[in-house]
Amino acid sequence: MYTAAIVGASGYTGGELLRLLARHPEIKVTKVYSRSRAGQPVYYAHPHLRGFYNLRFEKTDLEKTIDADIVFNALPHGEGIHFTARQAEVGSIIVDLSADYRLKDPGDYEKWYGFQHPYPDLLEKFVYGLPELRRDELSGTKLIASPGCNSTAALLAFAPLLSSKAVDLKHILIDVKVGSSEAGRKPYEGSHHPEREGTIRPYQPKGHRHIAEFNQEASRVAGERVRASMVPHAVPAIRGAFASVHSYLTQDISEKAIWGQYARFYRGSYFVRIVYSTPLRYPDVKNVVGSNFVDVSFAVDEDSGRVTGFAAIDNLVKGASGQAVQALNIALGLPEQAGLDLPPVKP
Ligand SMILES: NC(=O)c1ccc[n+]([C@@H]2O[C@H](COP(=O)([O-])OP(=O)(O)OC[C@H]3O[C@@H](n4cnc5c(N)ncnc54)[C@H](OP(=O)(O)O)[C@@H]3O)[C@@H](O)[C@H]2O)c1
Repeated sequence: MYTAAIVGASGYTGGELLRLLARHPEIKVTKVYSRSRAGQPVYYAHPHLRGFYNLRFEKTDLEKTIDADIVFNALPHGEGIHFTARQAEVGSIIVDLSADYRLKDPGDYEKWYGFQHPYPDLLEKFVYGLPELRRDELSGTKLIASPGCNSTAALLAFAPLLSSKAVDLKHILIDVKVGSSEAGRKPYEGSHHPEREGTIRPYQPKGHRHIAEFNQEASRVAGERVRASMVPHAVPAIRGAFASVHSYLTQDISEKAIWGQYARFYRGSYFVRIVYSTPLRYPDVKNVVGSNFVDVSFAVDEDSGRVTGFAAIDNLVKGASGQAVQALNIALGLPEQAGLDLPPVKP
């Protein structure tokens, strides 16, 4: 049994890690850290987990390292960047859910996050933890940089088309709709309930940071430089992220051939379900919430030549904590589904 510690365990992704790991056959959470909840039992922060853990939060001290086989960093980006580097040095397996180690090019941190990365040499050593794109590199790694939810949905919606060479890589437009839990537990002016409930609005329609990781990974899949553009939208849901990724076909290719491309690309990817039959022709977040599944599909508008890839995920599961556990399972040589083989919740 591997021991695991979660830093930032009082937050939303921390809570999801605790929920998913509660029944993991090979990983036991032995330490949870929080500043605001120090001394309290886990269920004070996460009442739905009452009875599953006999643990109390310990006070977060980012100056110290932690004695555990696996350490999850579930802190806002930037807050744990030095802690993660120190913890990596002592040899733990690190799963960092923040954006701190996702980008390979240190220049991208200056461009998209506005700071000079203090550990540029460590960036190459972290594996971008999207199993459907990086399964081989994840195997055996000790350093996992878990992807963002918007980029996860967008990449999984479009990766088979990127690899097909049949789309215009210079004109990729990403539209993401996402629920309020994406913004984390701490309420902000735009994210607390009276402002967020019932709304549909764009946010950061230019320069959204998640585009940096999309471009990085999409370029790798396509084998040439991709520079896409993204507009996320806040929608009246708590969980769920839905990506529609648009471009234009550059070749005369049939829908059947594109379907074949999706099927080949995702062969062996247990958590990807290709939605391409009646009665539900397109993905819907209602069919994935609570689970690590991602439902994908596509549509071709013959009149204009537009092709759109779709993906629906639960932002806190496949978009965060579930994917983190999936990547960790691969790193440890465990079955990819360990602790995650749960059907979605409906209605
Ligand atoms: N929410 C999503 O859908 C999602 C998806 C993918 C990735 N992520 C990433 O995952 C990370 C965690 O997100 P989240 O949604 O779980 O956020 P969250 O709900 O706000 O939780 C973060 C936790 O970190 C602790 N914390 C905050 N600032 C800190 C600081 N300066 N020093 C030490 N501890 C601090 C807080 O706990 P205390 O105040 O109790 O210490 C808080 O509960 C973020 O980097 C986020 O970008 C989130």
